[in-house]
Amino acid sequence: MQLGDLQLLQSLLAENRWSSVFILTDENTNKHCLTSLMMCIDFPVNPEILEVEPGENSKSIEICHQLWWALNDLGADRNSLLINLGGGMITDLGGFLASTFQRGIDFIQIPTTLLAMTDAAIGGKTGINLGNLKNQIGTFQNPVAVILDQAWLETLPSREIRSGFAEVVKHGIIADNSLLKACFETDVSNQEEVFQLLEPSLKVKADIIAIDPFEKKERKFLNFGHTGGHALESLTLNDEDPLLHGECVAWGMMIATLLSIDGGGLEAEAAKELIRSIDSYYPDIQPEVEIEKMWEVMLRDKKNRNGKVNFVLLSKVSKPIANVEISMEHFAKACDDLRVMREEL
Ligand SMILES: NC(=O)c1ccc[n+]([C@@H]2O[C@H](COP(=O)([O-])OP(=O)(O)OC[C@H]3O[C@@H](n4cnc5c(N)ncnc54)[C@H](O)[C@@H]3O)[C@@H](O)[C@H]2O)c1
Ligand SMILES: [Zn+2]
Repeated sequence: MQLGDLQLLQSLLAENRWSSVFILTDENTNKHCLTSLMMCIDFPVNPEILEVEPGENSKSIEICHQLWWALNDLGADRNSLLINLGGGMITDLGGFLASTFQRGIDFIQIPTTLLAMTDAAIGGKTGINLGNLKNQIGTFQNPVAVILDQAWLETLPSREIRSGFAEVVKHGIIADNSLLKACFETDVSNQEEVFQLLEPSLKVKADIIAIDPFEKKERKFLNFGHTGGHALESLTLNDEDPLLHGECVAWGMMIATLLSIDGGGLEAEAAKELIRSIDSYYPDIQPEVEIEKMWEVMLRDKKNRNGKVNFVLLSKVSKPIANVEISMEHFAKACDDLRVMREEL
């Protein structure tokens, strides 16, 4: 997989190795990103545009089925290229579509959200949801290239930027202290500052995946903040104004940090400092969900087995430990303690 900018895309297309080109967008990326892509890039063959509705519901087998037919009806063959232009929903759905159509065609990811730039489009995991079960069906397949461009952030709502920023912070916490420091000096409303964090952030994910592509060991570290975060995300999914993924992960990272004091040996002062820094970006993310319900969701999480709930914790900042079993009592106490601690910050 190559990582580069629009120039790389142009030179790949100039090699003329594809019989036809398809671009998958959602309504928003069609509106905000497609015109500028078409203006910047000289396509050797006119691309066919595929569009789905924005939102997680499009990551379904029904939509995928429609897209398989669309590719078929528009004459796609094994030498076609699919360009996925969008956030993580599009890069996941499009990656899955490309990796399954005719046993796999080439695809290029052009992530247009910060979350997709730093996380979803990198690492070769593609997928769709099975009903409410997130990413239950999927493949491991690397794209030909991932194309990064700061310009997409201009139209991205600030809340989406702050959500993606949580994954950048996560990369800093698990593996790169100087990235973490840079994160906490960053003004998230400044797109240039945020974009500059991407290179070190991507490096953390790429390095981990290079060691452990199929999540046997080190790749689990990337789930830091996600055990609690996913539970919160599932329980707030049907709210009128649901929390975004990164917002849930931010809370999940605070709870995992607090659990790390007893569960991982993290110094209490270091834990408090980290929670204070995360909280300063996400002071409004104060979940009001029942602990028991959260626990039930965590037990059902596909990453947990045998009635146990495992967390990724920290022994130090930049020193994660995977598979630490936490009891419900311990989790419930940490939730209470975190609330009190954040009130006092
Ligand atoms: N494969 C992986 O390793 C991996 C990792 C993390 C997350 N994911 C997946 O990523 C998805 C979440 O990704 P996301 O947060 O990017 O959500 P998303 O793709 O739904 O995008 C969020 C919103 O922003 C809009 N949007 C995208 N780019 C825009 C732009 N430049 N300007 C204006 N609006 C724009 C979208 O239309 C959407 O409404 C989830 O499905 C999650 O499971 C996958
Ligand atoms: Zn995530």
